[in-house]
Amino acid sequence: MASQDELKRVAAEKAVEFVPENEYIGIGTGTTVNFFIEALANSGKKIKGVVSTSHETSKLLEKYEIPEVQMNEVSHLAVYVDGADEVNHSLQMIKGGGGAHLNEKIVANIADKFICIADESKYVSRLGRFPLPVEVIPMARSMVSRKLMVLGGQPELRMDFVTFNGHQIVDIHGLNITQPISLEDEINKIPGVVENGLFGHNAADVLVLGTKDGAKVITPN
Ligand code: A5P
Repeated sequence: MASQDELKRVAAEKAVEFVPENEYIGIGTGTTVNFFIEALANSGKKIKGVVSTSHETSKLLEKYEIPEVQMNEVSHLAVYVDGADEVNHSLQMIKGGGGAHLNEKIVANIADKFICIADESKYVSRLGRFPLPVEVIPMARSMVSRKLMVLGGQPELRMDFVTFNGHQIVDIHGLNITQPISLEDEINKIPGVVENGLFGHNAADVLVLGTKDGAKVITPN
């Protein structure tokens, strides 16, 4: 039986087909994305520049000599490619398992197309089994956590973790997410919340899923 990593690689390799040459693109963060960067390098496709979302992704781009470009130097990206912790049938996602969802949401926001890559275990009918990451200003974390409890979740501070932008993360367990967009907005309205990991407004346009029967390309329903 194929391992989860093998299925991530299946999705990552297929996703290279969605990358146009001679364009600026964005790349997320995580183990699936790492397979994608390797596959992109092996494909020999010419990329004008990549907006990266983390130090890990930048390091890998450098290793494979794929040019990086800064977010402030470009106004739009042809595609944004990233993994997810969970993705539902409308291609809304929970992201931020690696704590990079703030940068990921910023970069995804200027892309014409979001290509999500994932192994089949991430494809769910309802979001919320994976704890929802909420990036917070450190002084606000207790107040924010109390408000998140009112929303029905059990908040847990991610220990010994500081985000790319110097904040902390509270992971919310036990949420039954039926309305991703309104929950995304509601959480982001709490003072001290920098960004949460729900991608309802920034749902993917295409999901490339690695399954034991090969790569499947899924569009939202
Ligand atoms: C990074 O913070 C996340 O949003 C990742 O995109 C997500 O956690 C998927 O990671 P893996 O590809 O490692 O499963």
